[in-house]
Amino acid sequence: MTDIGNNLVKDNSATSALAIAAEKIEEKLLKLLPKAVDLEKQVIDAMEYALMAGGKRIRPFLVLESAKIFGVGESSALRVAAAVECAHTYSLIHDDLPCMDDDDMRRGQPSVHKKFDEATAVLAGDALLTLAFEILSHDQTHADARVRCELISFIAKALGANGMVGGQMIDLLAENRELDRISITRLQRMKTGALIVFSGEAGAILGKASPQRRNAIMGYAHDVGLAFQIIDDLLDEEGSTEELGKTAGKDSAAGKATLVSLVGTEQARTMAHMLTDQAVQHLELFGDKAENLRNLAKFIINRAN
Ligand code: IPE
Ligand code: IPE
Ligand code: MG
Ligand code: MG
Ligand code: MG
Repeated sequence: MTDIGNNLVKDNSATSALAIAAEKIEEKLLKLLPKAVDLEKQVIDAMEYALMAGGKRIRPFLVLESAKIFGVGESSALRVAAAVECAHTYSLIHDDLPCMDDDDMRRGQPSVHKKFDEATAVLAGDALLTLAFEILSHDQTHADARVRCELISFIAKALGANGMVGGQMIDLLAENRELDRISITRLQRMKTGALIVFSGEAGAILGKASPQRRNAIMGYAHDVGLAFQIIDDLLDEEGSTEELGKTAGKDSAAGKATLVSLVGTEQARTMAHMLTDQAVQHLELFGDKAENLRNLAKFIINRAN
């Protein structure tokens, strides 16, 4: 990575580390997409449409940076980063469906069910999730089958009923219901935090890191993950549809249980800042190697979309 590339926040332009990583990830995603031979082309087109619509690529960036800290080769790390982005994109496609958050816009474009249709959106999500597992199981991801199996096992847990899917279930059931702070935090840890924790942990798994170092990166990702969802909720309340690339003001319209709805924007912002400070403290033992992750924490808290 170039010197320019290390300026994640100082230079928030197309030459930032995040932008450079995003380009590499997008190139990898295109290579890993299945090829169509017949009518299944529609679902593959929808997968490509969703993947290539943009997106900040924060989770894959976290995978790449964590992998660097643990001395993992970039070709392995890029495959895991791509798998995580496939899984995340699946969660967004389904999140936008009329039976879920019913959002017509995503990443500045019509949502997949608007561009195609609902059945195609369901199938494109399903196929992106299974593609993630296919990528991770391939021997190019890591020479050691036990490492591949550990990646698959941990991402499955992060995405399943005790992780993202469970969190999404609670999120929907909590509409127009008062949840207390502990319950909201649990919901956010599940629906958003779990995949972000996996993204940090993935580098440690690939690099067979010591438990102490693995816990440190997971502690960072845990706190950043919670801050990330609080900021998402703040942006939903305060941002514009144009800037966000998804419909603003949907949470209060749907009666979502968020920290913003519970304690208001100022306290929620304070909590996000506290979590970010706490996240950065976990990085101490990695020294300078974690500079991009420190900057990522700042980026997450200061982002405008
Ligand atoms: C949005 O995630 C969904 C949440 C978990 C809050 P991102 O804000 O990372 O979305 P993209 O990938 O940049 O579009
Ligand atoms: C979604 O949270 C989390 C996912 C697992 C996709 P939100 O519903 O707040 O995400 P946005 O605001 O639609 O991106
Ligand atoms: Mg949602
Ligand atoms: Mg949503
Ligand atoms: Mg949101």
